[in-house]
Amino acid sequence: MPSPCGVRIAGCGSAVPEKRLTNDDLVNMMDTSDEWITQRTGIRERRIVDPEKGEGQLSLATESLSRALDDAGMVGSDLDLVIHASVTSEMTCPSNACRIIAALDAQPAGGFDLVAACSGFVYSMNVADSLIRTGRYRSVGVVGCDAMSTAIDYSDRSVAILFGDAAGAAVLVRDEDPNRGCVYQTLNADGRKWPSLFIPNSPSHIPDDFADSGSRMGTLRMDGREVYKFAVGKFREVIQDALDATGCSVDDVSQFICHQSNIRIIESAIEKIGLPPEKVYINIDRYGNSSAGSVGLCLDQLWKAGKINQGETIVMVAFGGGMTWSSSVWNV
Ligand code: ACO
Repeated sequence: MPSPCGVRIAGCGSAVPEKRLTNDDLVNMMDTSDEWITQRTGIRERRIVDPEKGEGQLSLATESLSRALDDAGMVGSDLDLVIHASVTSEMTCPSNACRIIAALDAQPAGGFDLVAACSGFVYSMNVADSLIRTGRYRSVGVVGCDAMSTAIDYSDRSVAILFGDAAGAAVLVRDEDPNRGCVYQTLNADGRKWPSLFIPNSPSHIPDDFADSGSRMGTLRMDGREVYKFAVGKFREVIQDALDATGCSVDDVSQFICHQSNIRIIESAIEKIGLPPEKVYINIDRYGNSSAGSVGLCLDQLWKAGKINQGETIVMVAFGGGMTWSSSVWNV
């Protein structure tokens, strides 16, 4: 039996495209307004990839893990495994994880893509922590990345206003202290609720009772009101469960890193649980909802700002298509 070990975050990284898509840009494309979008979502602008410049989901994901490796003082060949979470991978075979491994010269590291929509980064952090604790893997690169602009029909205002493109990554390594790393995690799904948020590839994938927007195949459909109701309840429940299970009070936690879905969903959790706003990082105003990229992007921005330090406890929570939800409590 391997001796018990813990897990350390050795480095973080993120990547966002340069191109900004502002609310005013959207006003020129569809029947909406800056006021409506800002009030209902908290979003002012998002970043979107520019395929003409060779940017795409894969380049964002690769860049973010490359930056996390630099931050950790490591190179691709130091990795034993890459877990890449996304719903917008460019191909299903090979996985983007394999292409990231090739780009970073990380072979023969293992790699796989994980599909849990917006919960993907938190799911992956939990899986990576668990695998390192088996004693079999010493270092795992975790990437959450979505280029949602590639899965949006910009004639559908019900979804086009929400999403942006981003990637966030972390390099996790074995640590001698078993109390370090993820001390509590949940991975959950309720597959019965999948029609609330899905990307159909054929008309037969669209449920009969779904009021379809008529958007093209391969683009996101969402029942916004259903997702909103689900998310408000779930955020509160998942954060409370993480506190109860670890015996932590709100004071014991330095940061609650929430998936950036809609400012009103996050504010509702802040209010209902009584979280101090300074402990709940928000960047949705600048990046929109970047699905699997969102929590990793927040983690990196907090990390680089020196707001996540050794000995502190952080809580990451997300929900997304599936419907999935996940929490991850870390002793950093
Ligand atoms: N601009 C202007 N008006 C609009 C727009 C728009 N972009 N979209 C809808 N409207 C109109 C509707 O047609 C409706 O008009 P009506 O009253 O005449 O029928 C009115 O605004 C209200 O529409 P609702 O859908 O009820 O608006 P709501 O307040 O629910 O806000 C929103 C919509 C922002 C999508 C909200 O439901 C939401 O945030 N849901 C959660 C979405 C989410 O978090 N998704 C991602 C989570 S999972 C993941 O991250 C992959």
